Amino acid sequence: MLVSAKEMLNKAKEGKYAVGQFNINNLEWTKAILQTAQELNSPVILGVSEGAGKYMCGYTTVVGMVSAMINELGITVPVALHLDHGSYEAAKKCIEAGFSSIMFDGSHYPIEENIEKTKELVDICNKKGISLEAEVGAIGGEEDGVIGGGEVADPNECKMIADLGVTMLAAGIGNIHGKYPANWQGLSFDTLAAIQELTGTMPLVLHGGTGIPADMIKKAISLGVSKINVNTECQLSFAAATRKYIEAGKDLEGKGFDPRKLLADGTAAIKETVKEKMELFGSVNKA
Ligand code: 13P
Repeated sequence: MLVSAKEMLNKAKEGKYAVGQFNINNLEWTKAILQTAQELNSPVILGVSEGAGKYMCGYTTVVGMVSAMINELGITVPVALHLDHGSYEAAKKCIEAGFSSIMFDGSHYPIEENIEKTKELVDICNKKGISLEAEVGAIGGEEDGVIGGGEVADPNECKMIADLGVTMLAAGIGNIHGKYPANWQGLSFDTLAAIQELTGTMPLVLHGGTGIPADMIKKAISLGVSKINVNTECQLSFAAATRKYIEAGKDLEGKGFDPRKLLADGTAAIKETVKEKMELFGSVNKA
């Protein structure tokens, strides 16, 4: 059964570790992440972007696939199915479809509008027992080859959004999606500390988990980060292992062209990446 992310994140905040959000794109990724979480006895959050939702034939297909997989694989660790960076419209669709957790990314709206829309979603999600993540301060990333630096959130705005009753809060602290540029300034721990000071027990979310050095991850967790999102690193390990398989000519041997065989090494690589992250975040044996 899918669960809200609320309890697992409150426990993580209290226990000073973080739960990983790993983004899914297809059946193989989903299975690999669920199996690794079960093997390590770790709670897990499956992230679905709007694009990935479309790719997987819509949100109801995703809910059906993940729910069935939890049953078929005998998964007993807590699993939340979470919309990643959702628009207001996508948030409503995912609530209808049966997601157990939603991120409404209103960071590009003026703060008043972000508050208004977040507030409406807080009411809907509370009634249905769904966790809700809000965002303040845009998280940078690559767009058309240009890497934008992350916008640093205003701690007072974070407090305003946190007070609306959201479950967890993503705040930009210089983190970006995808690879970090060579001249990256690092995370702004002063900002994180100020946000944590004002928002108290609210679990904080760190996006752009790929490529942040381990010591920074640990420091962020010590300053109240309880959920860390990872996507690009799984893509990189999946692509590298699949490329190696093809470059070695293995797809031309025997039945190597069978998609189940073709994707096996990449899928195994995702398991390794997820394991590494769960160990770093400290969520192993916390289910
Ligand atoms: P990365 O792709 O940098 O790992 O970030 C993932 C993320 O934050 C998804 O919301």
